[in-house]
Amino acid sequence: MGGVRIGILGSGKGSNCRAILEGIRDGSLYADPRLVISDVADAGILEIAREFSVPNEYIPPGNYRTVLEPKAEETLVQKLREAAVEWVVLAGFMRILKTPTLTAFPHRILNIHPSLLPKYPGLEAWKQALAAGESVTGCTVHYVDAGVDSGEIIAQREVPILPNDTAAALHARIQVGERELYPEVLKQLCR
Ligand code: GAR
Repeated sequence: MGGVRIGILGSGKGSNCRAILEGIRDGSLYADPRLVISDVADAGILEIAREFSVPNEYIPPGNYRTVLEPKAEETLVQKLREAAVEWVVLAGFMRILKTPTLTAFPHRILNIHPSLLPKYPGLEAWKQALAAGESVTGCTVHYVDAGVDSGEIIAQREVPILPNDTAAALHARIQVGERELYPEVLKQLCR
């Protein structure tokens, strides 16, 4: 398989990862998925990697909650390097990456976030938008820097908040947007 060599990182069910792998499979996205890595042993994203025959790996994160322990982060960089990854694609990866990864992949790490950044960085951004009484939210693809969801914005998609929306319904609607936006951005970058 040809194309830009990507490594996908995620902690959850992996619907963004699936959308990306489907784009590659149907030929609309010219990328080579070298590796899927998760910090959660039973994450759906690892199952999806296996379904698409992409090498996949669980890296035990260590004892911290919001970052990888330094040893784990070194392992992460080593695995990505061994797989000759050019771009790191965060798809629901719920830990903040630190210097080893940021310096190994300068301006080569992307993230998708479920809000219209710079509004509502951090956890459960759709709940933050709902609680704030917004009528519109959305999703953002951005470069990853040392901050939390603070890197340069690449593209955004707006999603309406409906009267009587629930958090779950809103997140599901945002995720429909994510599954379109992320492969589109990658198509541009991988041309
Ligand atoms: C997505 O909604 C993504 O935007 C969010 O996690 C979800 C992962 O879903 N990421 C963040 O909140 C990062 N700050 P998925 O596992 O189905 O792709």
